[in-house]
Amino acid sequence: MILNASGCLDALTAPDVARSLDAFVTKTVTLLPREGNAPVRIVETEVGMLNSIGLANPGIDRFLSDVLPRLEELGVPLWVSVGGFCAGEFGELCARVDSHAEVSVIELNLSCPNVDGPEESVAELVAAARRSTRKAIFAKLSPVTLDFDSAARAAQAAGADGLSLVNTIRGLALDARTLRPVLSREVGGLSGPALKPIALAAVHECYRATGLPIVGMGGICTGHDALELVAAGARAVALGTILFSDPAAPTRIAGELARELSIRGVSCLDNIRGAAHEPTFSPKPNPQLEVERLTVAR
Ligand SMILES: Cc1cc2nc3c(=O)[nH]c(=O)nc-3n(C[C@H](O)[C@H](O)[C@H](O)COP(=O)(O)O)c2cc1C
Repeated sequence: MILNASGCLDALTAPDVARSLDAFVTKTVTLLPREGNAPVRIVETEVGMLNSIGLANPGIDRFLSDVLPRLEELGVPLWVSVGGFCAGEFGELCARVDSHAEVSVIELNLSCPNVDGPEESVAELVAAARRSTRKAIFAKLSPVTLDFDSAARAAQAAGADGLSLVNTIRGLALDARTLRPVLSREVGGLSGPALKPIALAAVHECYRATGLPIVGMGGICTGHDALELVAAGARAVALGTILFSDPAAPTRIAGELARELSIRGVSCLDNIRGAAHEPTFSPKPNPQLEVERLTVAR
């Protein structure tokens, strides 16, 4: 199952890309409209992208009245990402979305590095959301923790149905000439290839700690990257930064992933999920396809 990562695809300007996904995840919506941070808000680095968008969005009222009906026309399952500045706001946002049958899942953005987030714990934020909706809730956690297990278990105990792992991690880029920060807010969220090993560690630990369904994301550029996240325990994967350079990535990566399975003689993703946790996992060898795999330039 391939989704987009929140904030990395505007489905209304690129509807065909959205339709190539198994589900579309919205940009995070907040209670009130937000302009976001001042420009410069995006910069490329050698190992990925730094962004400090700051949750620019139309606010929940306009989102529900203007944006959601147009998203529904895409005919793709919809996940709505919500972001609050306290537990009460998470509760209110979930209550507002709850009555919309066209929304399959609510993703709680508990981890935006570009705004001053809530002071309450993950458990309190998820619990507030849980009290306000019967929809499935996925808690999106930060990679900035020494203890993924505890955060994941706390989200599970508070009623999360799944986890989205991971959000961006704070980084800084300096202008080559002035040696001043490039982004207006100085630091931003680092995404792209540098994030993949961190995402793998998060998925690996949280899968073991909770057994919850996990959407794995962070630096996925190829089918092999997606396969690795599934082997670590992800039920689905989400594409973020890659969509800016390759809007056709969902279809390409789905094809590459199918080939990765066929190379290993594995009939479906379910049979390889969590393989990283099994010391004895040994895929059926297929020498001809193995040669092909080794010669395909990554
Ligand atoms: C420009 C940009 C905007 C983002 N906006 C959001 C957002 O609104 N909500 C959210 O939960 N994550 C947001 N993210 C984080 C992504 O959803 C994803 O967690 C992260 O980029 C890691 O995936 P990637 O390395 O494939 O990009 C944003 C990322 C980027 C690059």
